[in-house]
Amino acid sequence: MTDAASSAGPAAGSPAGTGAETDRATAAVADPLHRELLGLALEAARRAGALLSEGRPDDLGVAATKSSPVDVVTEMDLASEKLITGFLADHRPEDGFLGEEGASSEGGSGVRWVIDPIDGTVNYLYGQPAWAVSIAAEHRGETVVGVVHVPPRGETYHAVLGGGAWLNGRRVRCRPSPPLEQALIGTGFNYVAERRGAQAEVVRRLLPKVRDIRRSGSAAIDLCDVGGGRLDGFYERGLHPWDFAAGDLVAREAGALTGGRPGSPATGELTVAASPGVFGALQPLLEELGAWHD
Ligand code: IPD
Repeated sequence: MTDAASSAGPAAGSPAGTGAETDRATAAVADPLHRELLGLALEAARRAGALLSEGRPDDLGVAATKSSPVDVVTEMDLASEKLITGFLADHRPEDGFLGEEGASSEGGSGVRWVIDPIDGTVNYLYGQPAWAVSIAAEHRGETVVGVVHVPPRGETYHAVLGGGAWLNGRRVRCRPSPPLEQALIGTGFNYVAERRGAQAEVVRRLLPKVRDIRRSGSAAIDLCDVGGGRLDGFYERGLHPWDFAAGDLVAREAGALTGGRPGSPATGELTVAASPGVFGALQPLLEELGAWHD
């Protein structure tokens, strides 16, 4: 955990994505491809964050709904995804895309960008501060770069495979593992009503066994906060790759363990991240509680 992560308020240091900070962050990356991808992800996230912070209409409304009437898209989700994919395609026209708001292409370079233009859309709609721009780069199917930019906090997490996890340019490590009964666990709920009922039942049975539960409304931030020492663990059923790709790498590079059901990687079926000792207790408990089915 950084000093910054243990104090209230935004972390010290300038958010990655500003020129000097991006230079410092990328200079530390040895692999030229990873260095290029990190620089582009930081800059795209910074531009999208500025658009979302400065361009949010006072009368922001719902442009469309997806899996349920409460699974909303705003005009700003669409504008943010367009900005990010346009910027990345200008610099790397051969890359593929997977974006929450529909970007989908294979590409021919071996690199695919996995983008959540606003993770925490409902928070953004309501003017709540837990929302982020999440951008991951995969190379030959493996996530090699993750950036989660959180404009309301003035914070940017980033990670490069094998290069550690960083918050505003400072290295972060997950918190030392407490016993499960003292662990602070984040979670989230799906937009589909039936699944929410099953998730509530899991929380009902889990809550007496942990310190407390948090629900921020942004899985990308929650995963990074496991890496930054602000949560001991996180789990959710029903996430999409764009929700967890970048945050999963940040958590792992900060020393946390991540996965799905025992023996499986994080998927939409179940995503779990926690400091190692907490993970060892939480993952089997979630299996026993049936956190992976409706
Ligand atoms: C959502 C957030 C939320 C989680 C939902 C996600 P979105 O992403 O990450 O915390 O509970 O399952 O869908 O829709 O705001 O990009």
